[in-house]
Amino acid sequence: MSFKEINVSELSFNPFDKIGKQWMLITAGDESGYNTMTASWGFMGVMWGKNVIETVIRQSRHTLEFVEKNELFTVSFYPEENKDTLKFCGAHSGRDCDKAKETGLIPYFTEGTTAFKQAELIFVCKKIYTQDMELSALSEEHHRWYADGDMHKAVMGEIIKVLVRE
Ligand SMILES: Cc1cc2nc3c(=O)[nH]c(=O)nc-3n(C[C@H](O)[C@H](O)[C@H](O)COP(=O)(O)O)c2cc1C
Repeated sequence: MSFKEINVSELSFNPFDKIGKQWMLITAGDESGYNTMTASWGFMGVMWGKNVIETVIRQSRHTLEFVEKNELFTVSFYPEENKDTLKFCGAHSGRDCDKAKETGLIPYFTEGTTAFKQAELIFVCKKIYTQDMELSALSEEHHRWYADGDMHKAVMGEIIKVLVRE
């Protein structure tokens, strides 16, 4: 399995389906230690003249510790056959298990960060903005998402490389 770099202008997908239905893995760290988790909420767009991806990661996630410690993270997408793997990575914490070992995901270390060889599309992102989301700024109809107080942190990364499986 190898990857080739492409330009964002070569991408053609519906971001709502891509993120919301296909889901993605957010991964941070390197050979010395990394963690990954499934996400289906997030954004792709343009900010400060840069192509960006914004993920939203709850404070309780082990992955957030790796995202906070590292300048880079990846957002990666997988063929449908990997759905069970994504379900596993979205239901277990890296605090309690080795997700790669449990699912067969093979780490792909690139640019000093990590994705997985099974990916069909990898965005290597450089963190440019993080912010704890605040309940007071959220319309009340959505407060139910935070009944346990586990707020999201918004983590925006500039897309510095796009890799597709060859
Ligand atoms: C389909 C799906 C989507 C998810 N989306 C998010 C998300 O956008 N943000 C988030 O914080 N957690 C999300 N989760 C939950 C985390 O993936 C889950 O809590 C995971 O076990 C965290 O692992 P960690 O503790 O190793 O980081 C999602 C889970 C699933 C199954």
